[in-house]
Amino acid sequence: MTDDPAARVHALRTLIAHHTERYYLDDAPEIADAEFDALVRELRALEEAHPDLAGETSPTRTVGGALSTAFSPVVHAAPMQSLDNAFDDDELRAWADRAVKLAGGHPLTFCCEPKIDGLAMSLTYVDGVLVRGATRGDGTTGEDVTDNIATISSIPKVLNPDLGAPPALVEIRGEVYMERAAFEAMNRRQLELGEKAFVNPRNAAAGSLRQKDSSITATRPLSFLAYLLGPTEGVAPGSAWDPSTQHGVLELLRGAGFTVTSRAVVAASVEEMLEACARFEAERHLLSFDIDGAVVKVDDRTLYEDLGSTSRAPRWAIAKKFPPEERTTTLLDIQISVGRTGRVTPFAVLEPVFVGGTTVAMATLHNEDQVALKDVRPGDVVVVRKAGDVIPEVVGPAPGQATRPGRPGPWQFPSTCPSCGGPLARLNGESDTTCVNRSCRAQIIQGLTYFASRTALDIEGLGESRVAQLVDAVLVTSPADLYTLTPAMLEGLEGLGEISATKLCAAIEGSRRQPMHRVLIGLGIHDVGPAAARITSAAFPTLSAVASATVDQLAALDGIGPVIAGRIVEFAQSAHGRTLLERLEQAGVGVEGSGGSGLPQTLLGKAVVITGSLEGYTRDGAEAAVLARGGTSPGSVSKKTFCVVAGDAPGASKLTKAETLSIPIVDAASFEHLLTTGTLPE
Ligand code: IVH
Repeated sequence: MTDDPAARVHALRTLIAHHTERYYLDDAPEIADAEFDALVRELRALEEAHPDLAGETSPTRTVGGALSTAFSPVVHAAPMQSLDNAFDDDELRAWADRAVKLAGGHPLTFCCEPKIDGLAMSLTYVDGVLVRGATRGDGTTGEDVTDNIATISSIPKVLNPDLGAPPALVEIRGEVYMERAAFEAMNRRQLELGEKAFVNPRNAAAGSLRQKDSSITATRPLSFLAYLLGPTEGVAPGSAWDPSTQHGVLELLRGAGFTVTSRAVVAASVEEMLEACARFEAERHLLSFDIDGAVVKVDDRTLYEDLGSTSRAPRWAIAKKFPPEERTTTLLDIQISVGRTGRVTPFAVLEPVFVGGTTVAMATLHNEDQVALKDVRPGDVVVVRKAGDVIPEVVGPAPGQATRPGRPGPWQFPSTCPSCGGPLARLNGESDTTCVNRSCRAQIIQGLTYFASRTALDIEGLGESRVAQLVDAVLVTSPADLYTLTPAMLEGLEGLGEISATKLCAAIEGSRRQPMHRVLIGLGIHDVGPAAARITSAAFPTLSAVASATVDQLAALDGIGPVIAGRIVEFAQSAHGRTLLERLEQAGVGVEGSGGSGLPQTLLGKAVVITGSLEGYTRDGAEAAVLARGGTSPGSVSKKTFCVVAGDAPGASKLTKAETLSIPIVDAASFEHLLTTGTLPE
């Protein structure tokens, strides 16, 4: 950590942006919510202490994540805000005191509800008929997921007419989520089908909702719980569709045909409100779905306008976040696994324990230092923590373990690889231990499995166990070997008859046509994930072009820093990397490149940021048009941006940033010119 607040603010913003993207765009968080919250709090504290460092676009002022390009943008009638968080009773009290003061000093009544761990959704009904479903997105603009939410049975397609005439327009807000039991059954099905299992119900719900094909969403057990009345039109003040309290809103929504929580509590004092929140926490497992906190709302809706909101969240509501859940269990063993880069990771084998909404039987221990620091030893009763999602963690030994009779000595990191028996090395200053043998069976299997995985070449039927079989039969050791396989070579291996061998070869054959960026991902170069691979392949569209790229050329690309540039060059110039690139190219892999569109590559290597909607294009379509001409279309402006195309309702933060960095901004009418010529209009 640095002492320079400006540097720390910058580092925190970068980290927060990274994790926001993992959470909202990839539906694959890398850290627990609690850790993410801690980063935001640290940033907020620094910004408060150094107001000169606070910026309009800081994540402390904005909500949610970037938008996926898979769905059309929807500008919300009123912003979909987030909630401020309270982490303990004192923070809850301070929020309530402030609300009382802002509301004129009268005591307040609170509506306390479980905080469902799902995805915020806005549903628009026109004359009582469902016309649109939109995600929150960045709070101002969400994604149109109407086709997908239409498959959710707990979402009424028509509002219950028994309530009288429906409003001309009403927006209902709530959460799309997955019940725990339904999630587990779905995950079992996914595994049976050879598909990836989801980490937790929230990610499963997000992944299911974000399917491009709504018939897939229809097979996923999604639910919807309504909790808020959004903007309305044609509603007479004081009528049924204008309840004066939040608990009245819940009743109205139930009457209209929505599922609402049955556990809402109206608390007549701050103390009652604190008790209600504590009860939600103690009873969280009694619910059939995951909750990650409680939401407290001022019950009297007529006060909302006076209470107002910050740029991010209303002052009339707050989220009380639950701390990560902890349970104790027995540490049965500490084992190590070898990854595709040779990195050796210790992990805890646990007596299965239900914590944070799932059963945990294994937990990573990260590296040698972490095991030493935690000093957990086989046979210990250990504390396991899981923050509702992401990776379970062993916190340390439960009290009293140090003096446990028969406790073994400190765990020693093995000195040889469990797979190949080769030596394990820990390079100076590194926390990771590595198996340095490039021919290690485990590394080869992991590397090939990754090459064939969905993120990379997406070769159907080539999962880890099939790869292991091919490696053990000495048929492949490198991804390039896959392209030398014939059905005759595979036939006769266990589980591979004539048909399945032919099918597998056809799948491998088909992967030659995968675009270049997937091949780059498949190489498994450190830090080169989908984003870096896309950017690189747009500028260097063949494997031989990548092989001869220099660090400077790569680092000049928007979105590629010197570290990633160095990694690519280091790989391409290593004996192993050079041979692999050559052999893959000879095998005809990735030759279609990213310029396979057949269009002139007018924007080769240029980063064009698009903001707002462009007539005649969906967001997806506009970005695809840039990619098809060799360009990239990142989600944010940086000094490497070639230009920003501003359509209707552009993002203010992108325009401000472009102005600050003197990046040219062109209007929607110039987009065609840009695509055709690759130059800015005169
Ligand atoms: S009310 C202005 N009520 O939590 C936003 N939100 O961390 C008012 N959430 O964006 C939201 N359960 O996605 C509300 N009972 C509940 C909720 C709830 C879950 C989510 C919602 C919100 C997020 C904030």
